[in-house]
Amino acid sequence: NKVVLAYSGGLDTSVIVPWLRENYGCEVVCFTADVGQGVMEIDGLERKAKASGASQLLVKDLKEEFVRDYIFPCLRAGATYERKYLLGTSMARPVIAKAMVDVAKEVGADAVSHGCTGKGNDQVRFELTFFALNPELKVVAPWREWEITGREDAIEYAKKHNVPVPVSRKSIYSRDRNLWHLSHEGDILEDPANEPKKDMYMMTVDPEDAPNQPEYVEIGINSGIPVSLNGEELTPASLLAELNEVGGKHGIGRVDMVENRLVGMKSRGVYETPGGTILWTAARELESLTLDRETMQVKDVLALKYAELVYAGRWFDPLRRSMDAFMEKISETTTGSVTLKLYKGSVSVASRRSSCSLYREDISSFENGLIYNQADAAGFIRLYGLPTRVRAMLERGI
Ligand code: ARG
Ligand code: SIN
Repeated sequence: NKVVLAYSGGLDTSVIVPWLRENYGCEVVCFTADVGQGVMEIDGLERKAKASGASQLLVKDLKEEFVRDYIFPCLRAGATYERKYLLGTSMARPVIAKAMVDVAKEVGADAVSHGCTGKGNDQVRFELTFFALNPELKVVAPWREWEITGREDAIEYAKKHNVPVPVSRKSIYSRDRNLWHLSHEGDILEDPANEPKKDMYMMTVDPEDAPNQPEYVEIGINSGIPVSLNGEELTPASLLAELNEVGGKHGIGRVDMVENRLVGMKSRGVYETPGGTILWTAARELESLTLDRETMQVKDVLALKYAELVYAGRWFDPLRRSMDAFMEKISETTTGSVTLKLYKGSVSVASRRSSCSLYREDISSFENGLIYNQADAAGFIRLYGLPTRVRAMLERGI
């Protein structure tokens, strides 16, 4: 038997390789997904995996798929978890887990394994994806089984099994990075009263240190999906990568929050989502031109549920897919461009245009026009306010 392990090359997943061989007597195939966590992490990985005892390492570049099929649909939906979280880690898990199911088929493995702890959301996201795409795969989650409790333990286990201990000093934070975001959890952040340290951030500069000159970016959007930056058409992943650069330079997209994990506990996290924050703002601004009142309300209500499903790892549920069909349909006319001004951590709208705009200056203008007749408002208000008048009459005995 054979197991496919989600492998990062860090200490934890390095230790999982010999642990799986020792406890399950199986061949271990390591798999690393490139979701934009940084090429540095992928270099030299194969040597490392094999030195840990893996039979092979497979690496797949999932960046375009990740942005096109996972990030952009969430962006179009306007999905935000608990008012602030743009779901960076939540969206990455299903794309990685889906690739693992494919790899398991390719190499003829009957099991999959991951290095998530038993206290978090990520284990749920991985495993619900495995369930949805191949319910016959066995799942091994070493963190929920083994006796290794801390970093010292893990190093000792590694040494005993002749596994090279990663030289890079592990950061004190638990981090997760991809093309959309970087998350920080743990250490001093575990006390919500502590302000994050200035040197913790990696994708964004401190807004206080950002350039004194604002910068404008123009985002082109087609049916709710970003397609261009400053007039240049780009692939999903390169568009996002470029926006991360600009946004990071201006200190855009830092979020510090206490969130409710699916497993019931609260946890404190800090996120950096520079490009994502710019795109999110652009998409909502464009919708202000293209969606009517009731459509926007229904869309926003559904976006809340959509975000909850994504957060909870239910990417492949028929419910999320069906809601996505709604989001696609309702966004058909969300086409146009938005220019945003980036300045010391803030994103503000400078300009918005759409060929599908429902805004009409000839109607909305304070100048009198032909379509809207102010005298009509009197009758409208009388009938619209009829229930209000009836109640007030009742209360007064009229
Ligand atoms: N709390 C965030 C989420 O649940 C981030 C999780 C970060 N994961 C990690 N393995 N460091 O989506
Ligand atoms: C983990 O516990 O593996 C990371 C945090 C999370 O999944 O929420």
